[in-house]
Amino acid sequence: MEDQRLITIDGPAGCGKSTTVRLLAERLGAIAFSSGTVYRAVTHLVLSDTSSDQLAAMSADERSSTILERIETNEFEIREVMHGDNLELRVFVNGVDPGEVLHSTEVTREVHWIADDGDVRAALLPLQRGITTTVPIITEGRDMGSVVFPQAQVKVFLTASLEARAQRRYDELVGERGEVIDRAAVKEDVAARDRFDRGRAVGPLIEPEGGVVVDSTGMSREQVVELIAGLVPAEWSEACA
Ligand code: DC
Repeated sequence: MEDQRLITIDGPAGCGKSTTVRLLAERLGAIAFSSGTVYRAVTHLVLSDTSSDQLAAMSADERSSTILERIETNEFEIREVMHGDNLELRVFVNGVDPGEVLHSTEVTREVHWIADDGDVRAALLPLQRGITTTVPIITEGRDMGSVVFPQAQVKVFLTASLEARAQRRYDELVGERGEVIDRAAVKEDVAARDRFDRGRAVGPLIEPEGGVVVDSTGMSREQVVELIAGLVPAEWSEACA
């Protein structure tokens, strides 16, 4: 892991991280990893035998030990798989890639039980830190540069104004999914997630030490990718070309 070439991209919801990571990975011949899928995979597993009402009714300690027990008694692995034309790192649970269900509304709604627990976050560190590949890895999340991979050679904190991120989220919900939704409610929802991500006691969203803050407000995705690619040591792309 020490020699692993790593680029970390952290940032709030709706700042365009996943698109940036995908385009950047294509451009650099790197492999993308979305760390949110680790929390989503644990959530999916826990929900297979514990309802969200049961989780909500538990004390924090009880919930913590329930989740930790699931992590210890099941096998989590991060493997390289082909996704379209690109290699991607995906989480496997007991040898199976759970797939799109990790992005279901239910998992998205309940994932905070898993992501906000300090003991659970600590238990999931070795899994994330164990990743090694011959090509550079671009990891995306909230605490990649600050906690999980502080040794990464390139650390980016990607952000955008609340308005820009709310607009992006609104376009996604209305345009792509055809949902009828109130613009002000979307903005408030994004603002609430910000407060929550930044304010939580463990793994809060913060700019990593030695990182570069990229504010994508008013920038095209190509410009963002260009800017970040410019931070990557030249020999990395030469080696991959
Ligand atoms: O990026 P995402 O929507 O897939 O993340 C799912 C959840 O996990 C979200 O609540 C944020 C949380 N998360 C986290 O706490 N730390 C990370 N490194 C990545 C995601």
